[in-house]
Amino acid sequence: MLLLLLVPCLGFQQQQVARRARMMMSSTALGADLTGKVAFIAGVADSTGYGWAIAKALAEAGATITVGTWPPVLNIFKSSLEKGKFDEDCKLSDGRMMTIEKVYPLDAVFDYPDDVPPEIIENKRYAGLESFTISEVASQIAKDYGKIDFLVHSLANGPEVTKPLLETSRKGYLAANSASAYSFVSMLQHMGPIMHQGGAALSLTYVASETVIPGYGGGMSSAKAALESDTRTLAWEAGRKYGVRVNTISAGPLKSRAASAINKKGERGFIDLAIDYSKTNAPLAKDLFSDDIGASAFFLLSPMARAVTGVTLYVDNGLHVMGMAIDSQALDGGLAVPEPVTT
Ligand SMILES: NC(=O)c1ccc[n+]([C@@H]2O[C@H](COP(=O)([O-])OP(=O)(O)OC[C@H]3O[C@@H](n4cnc5c(N)ncnc54)[C@H](O)[C@@H]3O)[C@@H](O)[C@H]2O)c1
Repeated sequence: MLLLLLVPCLGFQQQQVARRARMMMSSTALGADLTGKVAFIAGVADSTGYGWAIAKALAEAGATITVGTWPPVLNIFKSSLEKGKFDEDCKLSDGRMMTIEKVYPLDAVFDYPDDVPPEIIENKRYAGLESFTISEVASQIAKDYGKIDFLVHSLANGPEVTKPLLETSRKGYLAANSASAYSFVSMLQHMGPIMHQGGAALSLTYVASETVIPGYGGGMSSAKAALESDTRTLAWEAGRKYGVRVNTISAGPLKSRAASAINKKGERGFIDLAIDYSKTNAPLAKDLFSDDIGASAFFLLSPMARAVTGVTLYVDNGLHVMGMAIDSQALDGGLAVPEPVTT
């Protein structure tokens, strides 16, 4: 009898716990209010890229925005910000303006001051900068904010990206992997200790890591494969060590400054062709905006995704699921292809 009474009683308690959890989720509007949270977004130097869109999505929810900018483009970025050249792109949906509270010089290929070679120290684009290595930026952020909540890695660099892998030098391959993959490992090494428990880290990857995208060379495909694998291992390690989640977004093509630098084929560059290909062949035949990535990044960083870690989330209008290019000449006249739905 006692046992019979106990069983429904436990069930009731569990229901109460579940209900409490649900109520918590609704009372915080699913974690959409990020007021008081601090974000550091590495790899912002203009308003065209994914880093900017992620900063904006977080700013919409009230987060404090700080960014890390590569020294060679630091002055132009800061002076453009000061002159109001990005004002239009700073406008938030409720009329407020996004404020970038602090711009840290950051060169993500260096971990410590001793790693910086003389040619960089003497380079005029680094002149006057006291610190820009990952460990120094982490210390500076700790001094300024104590702890942060969100770490976003939105940077990549492959000096030989225009070369096929078969023609890539060891130096070029390692440089791509150093700037585009190891930099994320190093950032979590140095910034994990200054992240609040429950915080989240995010990087940006590309589907060339797992399928062949001719034109995306120089070891960049290898770097993205490493970044995705590291996302899983870091999710485990940083989850246990810091209580921090680690995810990556596999983004579709966007005509950012970095992407525009990839190989030109005739008049139109790699990125123009990749965008056209995506619009023609993806399940969702529409433009992909940086804000689409911003919205998904917001989800992954916010408490809405508090049980999500170690994932590669495709935000690419679905292109990654396709195993056949529907505009291939080999298919001329042979396939019934549904018309795109316009939204
Ligand atoms: N644009 C696309 O089509 C696309 C698609 C998938 C993934 N991504 C990824 O998105 C991320 C952001 O790129 P984006 O396309 O938005 O371009 P972007 O030009 O806005 O961002 C790249 C940033 O990396 C910075 N950078 C380069 N080397 C650096 C270094 N050593 N230290 C610090 N910063 C450095 C650049 O200054 C630039 O601000 C990258 O990881 C990129 O690979 C882009």
